[in-house]
Amino acid sequence: MATIYNTATTLDGFLATPDNSLDWLFAVEGSDDAESSFPAFLDGIGAMAMGSTTYEWLLAHEALVDEPQKWREWYAERPTWVFTHRELPVVPDADIRFTSDDVRTVHAAMVDAAGPRDVWLMGGGDLVGQFADAGLLDQITATVAPVTLGSGAPLLPRVIGSDRLRLVSVEQRGQFAELRYAVGAPRTQA
Ligand SMILES: NC(=O)c1ccc[n+]([C@@H]2O[C@H](COP(=O)([O-])OP(=O)(O)OC[C@H]3O[C@@H](n4cnc5c(N)ncnc54)[C@H](OP(=O)(O)O)[C@@H]3O)[C@@H](O)[C@H]2O)c1
Repeated sequence: MATIYNTATTLDGFLATPDNSLDWLFAVEGSDDAESSFPAFLDGIGAMAMGSTTYEWLLAHEALVDEPQKWREWYAERPTWVFTHRELPVVPDADIRFTSDDVRTVHAAMVDAAGPRDVWLMGGGDLVGQFADAGLLDQITATVAPVTLGSGAPLLPRVIGSDRLRLVSVEQRGQFAELRYAVGAPRTQA
């Protein structure tokens, strides 16, 4: 069982533009190539978490409140924790749990729900950073698109040194490079 941050990113380390657009991703020639390994990845996932901006992007971009069957087609019954301090619209019949609890508490519940399968952290970057700060991030899979944005939502706004990151695999998927890293434990303070 691993806790995995799996996301697409720009070459300069952004998940989205400052106004939360992913148009740069869909504009890449053969952009579906970025997702070619996704079905196999999702098969191994038993629980998911994301921040509220990511959730609201999905709601708006995919009209999920009106077309909730899409959620079930993609994610089936996987329990999903959405981190927020606000009351947000619910996707009907989806197992979505809104929370502002500590990531350690939520992670324990996610691991419990996932059973033998992995936990997927969808983003954004600071939320994943909170899991990393707590020593709860095991892997990063970053699918790098051939584009720079200069600014936007950061991939992972934390300092994690090369002593803690090990490159496990590199795959070319069309115009995308899929980089997989194992994340080591944080160093304990002397
Ligand atoms: N390229 C990709 O494949 C990819 C992947 C993921 C995301 N994205 C995009 O990247 C952008 C990420 O947005 P973002 O950086 O704002 O990150 P986000 O994690 O999606 O949302 C951040 C928000 O989540 C809530 N939150 C975070 N930590 C929390 C905690 N511990 N407790 C309670 N609430 C918490 C806060 O909002 P409130 O409390 O105000 O609700 C915070 O402002 C989005 O546009 C998303 O669509 C792209």
